[in-house]
Amino acid sequence: MTTDTTGTAARDGEARPGGPADSPFVRACRREPVPHTPVWFMRQAGRSLPEYREIRANVGMLESCRRPDLVAEITLQPVRRHGVDAAILFSDIVVPVAAAGVDLDIVPGTGPVVAEPVRTAEDVERIRPIGRDDVSYVDEAVRLLVAELGETPLIGFAGAPFTLASYLVEGGPSRTHAKTKALMYGQPELWHALCARLAEVTLSFLRVQIEAGVSAVQLFDSWAGALSEADYRRYVLPHSTTVLSGLADAGVPRIHFGVGTAELLGAMGEAGADVVGVDWRTPLDVATRRIGPDRAVQGNLDPTVLLAPWSVVETEVRRIVEQGRAAPGHVFNLGHGVLPETDPEVLTRVAALVHEVSARRAEQG
Ligand code: CP3
Repeated sequence: MTTDTTGTAARDGEARPGGPADSPFVRACRREPVPHTPVWFMRQAGRSLPEYREIRANVGMLESCRRPDLVAEITLQPVRRHGVDAAILFSDIVVPVAAAGVDLDIVPGTGPVVAEPVRTAEDVERIRPIGRDDVSYVDEAVRLLVAELGETPLIGFAGAPFTLASYLVEGGPSRTHAKTKALMYGQPELWHALCARLAEVTLSFLRVQIEAGVSAVQLFDSWAGALSEADYRRYVLPHSTTVLSGLADAGVPRIHFGVGTAELLGAMGEAGADVVGVDWRTPLDVATRRIGPDRAVQGNLDPTVLLAPWSVVETEVRRIVEQGRAAPGHVFNLGHGVLPETDPEVLTRVAALVHEVSARRAEQG
């Protein structure tokens, strides 16, 4: 009757053999034996697909994130087409921040744009804590999807405090994160207040998705690689830890992802991740030495390789599957999101190739 009851029932259901909690994707996240290396693609739901462009033709990005029927359809499109091992909820990292009262839009070709960038303690105070009622469309979309997806796991996600703070302080995308870092170094108290508030919003947002039945969550700290390890540990790690360690008892694997994070991989694992995302700059065997034996890895094909001839793609996929064997668990993915100009047929072939070259002659089960 209540959401709690439904949420718990959904999670209990997942624990069944053959349910999403027993899928190759979730098993790899947990470092359990798998029949093949699972694969999904960051930004698989999006502009590389003609069926996505068609459905989005007359609907704004934020509006499409708030319509459960559209969210469900767009999330399912790449699963039907590519045979990937997981779906990722169609949404955007700024959705919970908008629900918390920040005036923003997602501008095509630019990304999130914030009307009044954060400058003062009053600006931070205006970011309200959120609950399920503020994002009921996400709760509804996840429930629709879990019912529709059957044994395929659904990944929920949120932006991490640093990456969200960067958009809020810069007012939009930034190459240097100069205003963000100026606030971080110059007004550390204000910085920590902002990140603490964002961590609270993010934790609530992920809890809503977990209660509604997602099988895993990914925290995107896309821009964390802009920091040295010392500054990451001092200014960012405590807040990302609030989010990830705050979900330790939630019963779903937690993936922690960033770009340009070769020096941060160990720290990103320590934040409370079960899986650490790795970009294409660090080979997976090297990455796993930095991360340690207690965590799985996810990655790490350079998304631009998908624009190269198939023989190049094939060589790279085989190398990554091989290097992934050094890790205690490997989820194949790109090192960052699918580029809009990618031929979707190449993605389908990559998913099939990963399954083929990683298939274990399984005596299991
Ligand atoms: O991965 C998926 O398939 C799920 C969907 C998803 C989107 N955004 C949809 C989207 C996810 C997981 C995100 C996360 C996100 N959003 C991140 C973290 C991941 C990363 O790429 O580093 C970041 C930094 C954002 C912020 C953002 N939103 C950017 C930089 C852009 C691109 C701007 C542009 O138009 O080039 C967006 C818009 C956005 N988010 C689109 C999609 C499909 C494109 C909007 C459109 O189709 O009109």
